[in-house]
Amino acid sequence: MKIMLGITGSIAAYKAVEVLRKLVEAGAEVRVVMTRNAARFVAPLTFQALSARPVLVDEFSGWDPSSIGHIAVSEGLDCALVAPATANVIGKAAAGIGDDALSSTLLALDCPLLMAPAMNDRMYRHAATQRNLNVLRERGVRIVDPDTGPLACGAEGCGRLASPDRIVQEVLALFAPRDLSGRTVVVTAGPTREAVDAVRFLSNPSSGKMGFALARAAQARGARVRLITGPVAIDWPAGVDVRSVLSAADMHSAVMELAGDADVVIMAAAVSDFRPLQPSGRKIKKEAAPDEIRLERTADILAELGKNASGRVLVGFAAETDQVLEHARAKLKAKNLDLIIANDLNREGAGFGEDTNIVTMITRSGETTDLPLMSKDQIAAKIVDKVAEILRKQGESA
Ligand code: CTP
Repeated sequence: MKIMLGITGSIAAYKAVEVLRKLVEAGAEVRVVMTRNAARFVAPLTFQALSARPVLVDEFSGWDPSSIGHIAVSEGLDCALVAPATANVIGKAAAGIGDDALSSTLLALDCPLLMAPAMNDRMYRHAATQRNLNVLRERGVRIVDPDTGPLACGAEGCGRLASPDRIVQEVLALFAPRDLSGRTVVVTAGPTREAVDAVRFLSNPSSGKMGFALARAAQARGARVRLITGPVAIDWPAGVDVRSVLSAADMHSAVMELAGDADVVIMAAAVSDFRPLQPSGRKIKKEAAPDEIRLERTADILAELGKNASGRVLVGFAAETDQVLEHARAKLKAKNLDLIIANDLNREGAGFGEDTNIVTMITRSGETTDLPLMSKDQIAAKIVDKVAEILRKQGESA
């Protein structure tokens, strides 16, 4: 996929570095075009190094001298994105003005365009900006709405650039097949917390990244996604219903409530297997610390879903340190799953908190697929591919 990334002169230009990194990670060939003001915030060299391509800033120098910059850069693109987009570039695009490399490129485009505005809240609310955004929307430009929160100018309001994750999600959604439309997918993510007392808990280092990547991947392919997450510190995916829970018991009841009519349940959460038998409702003082904390088992959510299999596709994870595939196969069978994703926690780049993982997918029939080191987004796309294949086969044999 060939993508043009336009960057304009907003303080949020530094976030475009992350957007570019994520697009490259997703396998895109990215051509960067910057305005001169953007180049004052972040050096073009940063984008050149990350995209491994020259960056077009000045119409009349740099880039490929044998071609006309804005025409060459706009040829053969699958999509174009301007992030951050200032009120100025939005106005120019709406009016059809081409007075620098980026605005001229926008006029020469022959592909879908996304713009992610970033500016002061009064500038964003200004009637001219709103009118320009509407003109662009009517013309089919997808606007990645800004977030509300503290702005670089010290004000608080709507105008913060959408998170790089959300921007990239909206770009990649353009390329995904919509083969899960009409399907409901429940995904669980993150750790659970089991109270020891009013201020202490048992938990694990799950970041929720794998589950969130799965929710984004399923949503991009048209599914209606319900994400049930334990406490995590990452942005919630756009367009997904999110239910946040704390304990394994909360997660259990949320899954039972939301999975009833689901076509697919993916249990990526690291659900605690134990909880303190008698948590104290108050803070236990040091002097009164017990010598031992008695634990009891929590309900195995996935096993319970497997017992009442109702044609839903059930996907589990097995994070292991030894005999990884043997344990994963045993879990697949014991919990009556359609697919299990095994990962070896000993391998570098795999496991809790990382942006990458190395996994093996095993289906009910024993078909095994090794996925080498990849980003969690790439792995999520492969898992969702496999889920779509299982649904398709179920449909054929029904
Ligand atoms: N799981 C669950 N409910 C639990 C524990 C785990 O639904 N109480 C799910 C996880 O979300 C994961 C799968 O079961 O998809 C396997 O979890 P894991 O902890 O690896 O396996 P366990 O069956 O708990 O076995 P063990 O801890 O002994 O390895």
